[in-house]
Amino acid sequence: MIDNNKVVDVLRKINDPNTGIDIVSAKRVRDLKIQDKQIFFELEVHDLSQEAKFAINAECYALLKDQFKDLEVHIHFTQSKGGNKTILPQVKNVIAVASGKGGVGKSTISANLAVTLSKQGYRVGLMDADLYGPSMPTMFELKGEKPKIQQVYGKPKLIPIEKYGVYLISIGFIVDPEQAVVLRGPRLSGVIKQFINECIWPELDYLIIDLPPGTGDIQLTLVQSVPVTGAIIVTTPQDVAVADAIKASNMFRLDTVNIPIIGIVENMSWFTPAELPDNKYYIFGQGGANSLAKKYQSSVLAQIPLIQEVRESGDHGKPVSIADNAMLTELFDGMTDQFLKQLQLRHELYAPTKKVEIKT
Ligand SMILES: Nc1ncnc2c1ncn2[C@@H]1O[C@H](COP(=O)(O)OP(=O)(O)O)[C@@H](O)[C@H]1O
Ligand SMILES: [Mg+2]
Repeated sequence: MIDNNKVVDVLRKINDPNTGIDIVSAKRVRDLKIQDKQIFFELEVHDLSQEAKFAINAECYALLKDQFKDLEVHIHFTQSKGGNKTILPQVKNVIAVASGKGGVGKSTISANLAVTLSKQGYRVGLMDADLYGPSMPTMFELKGEKPKIQQVYGKPKLIPIEKYGVYLISIGFIVDPEQAVVLRGPRLSGVIKQFINECIWPELDYLIIDLPPGTGDIQLTLVQSVPVTGAIIVTTPQDVAVADAIKASNMFRLDTVNIPIIGIVENMSWFTPAELPDNKYYIFGQGGANSLAKKYQSSVLAQIPLIQEVRESGDHGKPVSIADNAMLTELFDGMTDQFLKQLQLRHELYAPTKKVEIKT
């Protein structure tokens, strides 16, 4: 009698043409049955050419026959019907980090959330979708690094770069940052789709997406291309930042998009000088995140003060959450705990997000 697990182990050696990871991790294998001397399974494929189907069929067949000599192999191809599991089936939660304005700390929060989750033992990816102002090469000290490319059934795929336990992709790894401005509408969307479909993302608990500020083409492409589990909105406490954060939040709450807001992070909430540790100066005002949270029946995940070390460590490519500073790591640990709590609630209260079809 043949052990199912042994068959599965063989199938793990075969790559899925869409995601680039193995067909078992990509959850493409269904209804595996072994009867007498026969192996049956369904292989779900997505928009695959005849040649690619042929190649993957031949590979399954050859590897299985090699292990189990006198068995017959029956593979039934099914076309995936779109839906949620087609895109990034190996990623459990896709989290978009958004803001209305630039410079409020979206990338800082994304980087520290990613690193903290990874420290807690989760598998984490970080997609730098701010194509005009990619920050991750700097924040992770990866300037000038290039992702490796792997051919999967004749198509080149990018391998995200790992640093501090986080798998990263950024336009900054691909084009010279000074040239990124030449990208326009359709090409921007193309890059985002490439980050989703032509990257070999490993199995992940969280894929954090650092969006550009505002509500433009990139944000729309993203919600149309991938089922986003939820959004985090970053804002400073001041009125003008909150007014813009409302617009960003409204995009996620459109009927046609319907992505829940997991929580609000208020950044630059106050400043405390080192020599006056009990004083808090509310440079950007107060209460912004609270009013936003009320409006969207969401909650404030954290208030992060203005701290010189946060800026410095970002510039030096070592997010503060890995620094040797208990006060700072506690801040981001607290934010991450709240995020996980609110995400859990989201899973209990809402249905999974569907990829959005918007007619343009
Ligand atoms: N809490 C903070 N304290 C000090 N500096 C901060 C803080 N948050 C962000 N910064 C700094 O402010 C600048 C803008 O932050 P960034 O994360 O790049 O914003 P965004 O991605 O929203 O444009 C960066 O130089 C960053 O290091
Ligand atoms: Mg940024």
